[in-house]
Amino acid sequence: MTPFTIAIDGPAAAGKGTISKAVAERLGVAHLDTGLLYRATGKRVTLGEAPLEAAEKLTAEDLKATDLRTPAVAQAASRVASIPEVRAALVDFQRAFARRAGGAVLDGRDIGTVICPEAEVKLFVTASDAVRAGRRYRELIAGGHAVTEEEVLADLRERDARDSERDTAPLRPAEDAVVLDTSEMEIEAAVAEALRLIAARRG
Ligand code: C5P
Repeated sequence: MTPFTIAIDGPAAAGKGTISKAVAERLGVAHLDTGLLYRATGKRVTLGEAPLEAAEKLTAEDLKATDLRTPAVAQAASRVASIPEVRAALVDFQRAFARRAGGAVLDGRDIGTVICPEAEVKLFVTASDAVRAGRRYRELIAGGHAVTEEEVLADLRERDARDSERDTAPLRPAEDAVVLDTSEMEIEAAVAEALRLIAARRG
C-alpha cells in the first residue's frame, strides 16, 4: 500500500490528540503522538540529563511512562523542543513512522510543515484559549492533579508563545492545511468533521 500520512498540528489542548486517536482507529492506521517524544525528553532533562543526549537515548519504555502528562513535564518538553539539535535528533523516527506502509496519523506542532510536508492530508486543529484551558483543566483534575484553571491557562499561553516564537519548526499551519476550529464543537462533532475533511482530501 502506498504511504498515506495524515498530519494533525495545533496548539496545546485544542483537541488534536483525541481527534488523531479517533481518526486512526476509525481508518485502521497507526498513530504517533509526537508530543510524547518531547515530553519524554523533557522529563529526562529534569532528571539531570543533557537535552541532546536525552533525545538520542529515548526508548519505547520512556514513551510509556505514566507521568508524562503533568504541567511540569509539559513545560520541560516545550523548553527542550526549542533546541534545534533536539528536534533534529527526533526527525528520522517521525519521518519513518509517517511513511510507514499502511498509513499513519501523526499529531504535533510541525508535522505538516517540517516532518512530513508531503502528507496527503494536513489539519490544523485550534480552539480559543479559554476553551483549551477549560478542557485541559478538566483532564488534569480528573487525573488527580491539583491545579487551578488560571494556572492551566497561563501554562498553555506560555507554551504556545514559546512554540510559536522559536526559530526552528515554529507552531504554525502549513500553507495547505485545513484549519479546524473546535471552540464550539463537542469532541464527537470535531472527530466527524475531521473524518469528513480527510475523506474529501483523499478523494
Ligand atoms: O502536544 P503536547 O502538548 O504533548 O506537546 C508538548 C510540547 O512538545 C509542546 O508544547 C511543544 O513544545 C513540543 N512539541 C513540538 N513539536 C511537536 C510536538 C510537540 O515542539 N511535533
